Amino acid sequence: MTIKSCSAVAPCSTANLGPGYDVFGLALDALEDKVKVSRTYPGGGRITIKNSDQTIPSIPESNSAGLVVKKMMEDFEIRDSTEIEVTKGVPSGYGVGSSAASAAAAAMAFNALYDLKIDRNKLVEYAAEGEVASAGTKHYDNVSASLLGGFVICRIASGRLQFIRLEPPKDLVLVVAIPCLEVPKKKTEVARSVLPKVVPLKDVVHNISGAATIVAGFALKDVETITRGIDDVIIESARKHLIPGYDSVKKNAISAGALAVTISGAGPSMIAFLKTNKNAKMVAVAMAKGFKETGVESRTFICRASRGARLLA
Ligand code: HSE
Repeated sequence: MTIKSCSAVAPCSTANLGPGYDVFGLALDALEDKVKVSRTYPGGGRITIKNSDQTIPSIPESNSAGLVVKKMMEDFEIRDSTEIEVTKGVPSGYGVGSSAASAAAAAMAFNALYDLKIDRNKLVEYAAEGEVASAGTKHYDNVSASLLGGFVICRIASGRLQFIRLEPPKDLVLVVAIPCLEVPKKKTEVARSVLPKVVPLKDVVHNISGAATIVAGFALKDVETITRGIDDVIIESARKHLIPGYDSVKKNAISAGALAVTISGAGPSMIAFLKTNKNAKMVAVAMAKGFKETGVESRTFICRASRGARLLA
């Protein structure tokens, strides 16, 4: 029997933005997940999950929303039983923060259900518990953006966390191209395993310069400055072989008027950055054509920054 429930929605997001690996996240208003968390009778600390996407595990330990709720129940010594109902809008495994959207919505809904009054910083930490389900480790870029909205810098120093949110410029427009590819289970874990363990200092300097430029661009609300910084020489070169059509998608998008193009999160989606939506449709067509050149169909979305997760009345 259901006693009480709360629902929240959280948007998809893009992580990294090129040189900001595991540090930058941007919430996108293209797609969202809805999570309803209910207190059920009898108690006993059982968690059951109903998922609209049958490809996603419904065992709490392997499900991003389940992991979040499990950790929150443990920390707050909640002995009720809980039912989690996930309605997926964000496709899983494509680099657009799908597990993060479910995790962020679950954290927000559970916090409201028990009136836990957890501050937003700590809520991001709980939501990051969910990333273990897909990435094998916690990372905060997608969950922080999905929860807080806008552009988020994750500061991680000696285990201490801080999430710094900047409001994106109003004229920032994004085009996301999601290829219709079969992705491996635990794709993020796979995409992280191909990354170099040692990086030349000159590449680090290049990426720091780009990352600093992106932050300056958001602070100044200047799309051109943001996009000049989106140039990564460490992560993309290691991952691009995992994305059929990477080079053509990038080249086509730039020819059609995009100011910058990069892998969205761990891929295989690609994201283009534009100032105003003037060329957005042409860029979307050009990116789809780039995937098509290697025989891959794709879905494209023209979107803007999202304001983040919200509770449903
Ligand atoms: N920063 C993470 C990665 C994002 O690139 O592996 C995963 O969505």
